[in-house]
Amino acid sequence: MQKTDLVRSDLPNLQTALPGPKARRVIERDGAVLSPSYTRSYPLVAARGEGAIVEDADGNRFLDFSAGIAVCSTGHCHPQVVRAIQDQAARLIHMSGTDFYYENMVALAEKLSMLAPGNLPRRVYFGNSGTEAIEAALKMARYHTKRTQFVAFFGAFHGRTMGSLALTGSKNVQKRGFFPMMPGVHHVPYPDCYRCPYGQTPDQCAVECVQAIEDPLFRQTVPAEEVAAIFVEPVQGEGGYIVPPKKFFDELRRLADKYGILIVADEVQSGMGRTGKMFASEHFGFVPDILALAKGIASGMPLGATIARADIMDWTPGAHASTFGGNPVCIAAALATMELLERELVENADRVGRHLLGRLGELPRKYPIVGDVRGLGLMIGIEIVRDQQTKERAPDLRDKIVYRCFEQGLLTLGAGPNSIRLCPPLVITREQADFAAETIEEVIGSIGR
Ligand SMILES: Cc1ncc(COP(=O)(O)O)c(C=O)c1O
Repeated sequence: MQKTDLVRSDLPNLQTALPGPKARRVIERDGAVLSPSYTRSYPLVAARGEGAIVEDADGNRFLDFSAGIAVCSTGHCHPQVVRAIQDQAARLIHMSGTDFYYENMVALAEKLSMLAPGNLPRRVYFGNSGTEAIEAALKMARYHTKRTQFVAFFGAFHGRTMGSLALTGSKNVQKRGFFPMMPGVHHVPYPDCYRCPYGQTPDQCAVECVQAIEDPLFRQTVPAEEVAAIFVEPVQGEGGYIVPPKKFFDELRRLADKYGILIVADEVQSGMGRTGKMFASEHFGFVPDILALAKGIASGMPLGATIARADIMDWTPGAHASTFGGNPVCIAAALATMELLERELVENADRVGRHLLGRLGELPRKYPIVGDVRGLGLMIGIEIVRDQQTKERAPDLRDKIVYRCFEQGLLTLGAGPNSIRLCPPLVITREQADFAAETIEEVIGSIGR
């Protein structure tokens, strides 16, 4: 298919071979001084961004379907967010909300409490990142329930600090060399309907994933009355952009209520409008007890939030805090972000996401290396396999596709062992979605029919 006019400012425009000369120099210097633990899939050296476009150090313009790992929800440098940051930075940059009061922190907590699924009184704790939002949830759950054990899912990613890392069950490289983990975490299979861990089809599914928590896990390994919380991503992110069936959440809620266990929804990646609703939980009519947010909440400024039922957040002064958490500049960015999300971007994510998913959904019929295409809103995963029958994973082909998309001016990321993750800023237009769909199809077509 003929691609649309490449010189338009809202579509990619590549001027040099990649990486260009300036990018090369940065990458060389980076290699000498930066932590070798970072994972870079391709040599993008970002210099500036606007909307869904990122310009590199050599002036090449890319269409960004990564949004800095699902962070730049309102697009790069949205004028309203930039203004909010600048205005706040000129008035008050830091005071520490743990020891003093400031109004915008209260305003954001009020807004988040109001928007969180379920019509319940809530309280909000602010940190600086996703992993801190999860650490707060872990500590809060132990503190409130006076129980010590946790359930999490295989494939989950909840962060990399020692508590969150114990919950993470995505790739063993994230844990290798770091044991012992925080004790008390038990992993169980996640409802991945493309690869049902119980060999079921969606019609036959009796939510075996939840049954298995009760039996054998609770019956044989960990008494339910010692479990403080179950941590769940409503759409599994790092694990491969996997969307569970609605009945999974109904059953999980039933199980948790039966044993007085809290459910923590980790919406660090799926929250803030990404799935076409403010929170992915809403797609499933699911009301978590604790909700963890970060990434898209402040359009790129570091902020995490842990929102809990007011009766659960019953810890005493001094029990938990962070010097920078809820920094006024990050809060100002979040308030501007929320306004844009509510005004138009959640709806745009839903509309453009449906269109994009509709187009990409045709790929498995045309290309045997595309095993599955799934997602909600602008959180879309494409699973690459060696063969549709065997579903053998093809991580090498996935990596090749991600790299070739970069060479075509489209920034994507991997997720899980063999999926491509599409998580563009929520401002993308239908035309940009079409460009991405055409590029991905072209690249997949060039790799494997
Ligand atoms: C679902 C989920 N939880 C937690 C985290 C950790 O967030 P952070 O990297 O901000 O610590 C991530 C990051 O990718 C995530 O996707």
